[in-house]
Amino acid sequence: MGTCKGTGAALLMDYRAHSCWLPIALVTLLCMAWCAPSNQVSPVITMEQLLWVSGRVIGSVDTFRIPLITYTPRGHLLAFSEARKHSDSDLGAKFIATRRSHDGGYTWSATSFIVDDGTTPDGLNLGAVVVDDKTSNIFLVYTMCAHYHQCDVSSVMVTNSSDDGISWSVPRNLSREIGTKMFAPGPGYGIQKKLSPRKGRLIVCGHGTLDEDGIFCLLSDDHGSTWKKGGKLEGLPFKQRKRLGDFSPDECQPFELPNGTVVINARNQYFYHCRCRIVVYSADGCDSLPLENVRFDEGLPDPAVAAGALYKSGVTYFVNPANQAQRVNLTLRWSFDSGDSWEQKSIQIWPGPSGYSSLTTLSRNVEDYENLFIIYEKGRKETTESISFVKVNLYGHV
Ligand SMILES: *[C@@H]1O[C@H](CO)[C@@H](O)[C@H](O)[C@H]1NC(C)=O
Ligand SMILES: *[C@@H]1O[C@H](CO)[C@@H](O)[C@H](O)[C@H]1NC(C)=O
Ligand SMILES: *[C@@H]1O[C@H](CO)[C@@H](O)[C@H](O)[C@H]1NC(C)=O
Ligand SMILES: *[C@@H]1O[C@H](CO)[C@@H](O)[C@H](O)[C@H]1NC(C)=O
Repeated sequence: MGTCKGTGAALLMDYRAHSCWLPIALVTLLCMAWCAPSNQVSPVITMEQLLWVSGRVIGSVDTFRIPLITYTPRGHLLAFSEARKHSDSDLGAKFIATRRSHDGGYTWSATSFIVDDGTTPDGLNLGAVVVDDKTSNIFLVYTMCAHYHQCDVSSVMVTNSSDDGISWSVPRNLSREIGTKMFAPGPGYGIQKKLSPRKGRLIVCGHGTLDEDGIFCLLSDDHGSTWKKGGKLEGLPFKQRKRLGDFSPDECQPFELPNGTVVINARNQYFYHCRCRIVVYSADGCDSLPLENVRFDEGLPDPAVAAGALYKSGVTYFVNPANQAQRVNLTLRWSFDSGDSWEQKSIQIWPGPSGYSSLTTLSRNVEDYENLFIIYEKGRKETTESISFVKVNLYGHV
């Protein structure tokens, strides 16, 4: 052994067993990244399991809501959820629950609760998770007092993990850097710019409330040591109560295109122009979110909900409950032109009640590389019944 003999085909057939599997796996990976096999995209669900079930069966938690999922620096999966202690309300006291998977989502660690807000009347709300691939730090950003319910000061908090999501720092209060106006990150993942402009920047997007109306992002150019606010896309009428038909970009998910543009896909809270998604493009790493870069994506019907979006190997993926009126019909779509248009074909992940969703991908090896990992609120009668995890093979391999 030790020399590379045989034809490429023979090696590919048996690359795992052969001592030369690593270079071949790399070539396959590079091809997947660069050959953009758009005609091969044919997503198929290969596995689904519930990660959390509401109803006081796990640590007497009343309701699990707002699921997040991310890859980790070591190529594992990390899932989070709000664990609402006493009711399904956005208000009230909560934990942040997490589980880890080291085998691409087949098995998961037991739930651990990494943040506990005690008995706070307007406790924590998730949130966004962002990985710094340079330093291997994972940041989890959430809000306290998002609704000013029996509290006057809203705070954005950040905890970090430098051991792949096993242990988490005492949460840091960002109010000295970014003030105390309400900011609700995500829900979803934040990004690290991989391309210029602002290569290396950490970007966590979210929305404010009446005192800071619209969407904007928190930016860090020093690997998460300090954060500042980026440009805003303001709601209209600005700082006034909204009603049906007003412009109110809300919960949102950013991703980066291969030309360095950041796309933010946002909830259209009061259905301005359409019952569909708001999309805004930033060419300067979210220093600005210009109004002239806003588009309404009629190809993405939406009931006003937090949805997932991700770019991978030439393809943009989008997941939401694809229905203009109700949170049902969780659907995965894909686009070969950066979201300008969506393929006619789509796959239904769950016909019934389905709410917030988020997605991630791994690139550790060829097998991982072919998948999307989706986490979403799933139920038979209500969306709040459980948090489900789905593995989707993008190229139809079951
Ligand atoms: C991560 O948390 C540790 C422990 O609290 C802290 O010392 C460190 O400064 C944090 N790192 C960043 C980049 O925030
Ligand atoms: C964060 O800091 C601000 C300003 O010091 C303070 O008013 C607020 O209570 C702090 N938030 C939390 C959750 O500790
Ligand atoms: C980057 O690509 C997007 C999507 O194709 C396009 O809308 C945008 O104009 C491009 N930006 C630049 C700076 O070329
Ligand atoms: C579910 O989504 C698909 C794809 O957009 C659509 O054709 C179908 O009408 C939707 N069904 C419901 C019940 O919303």
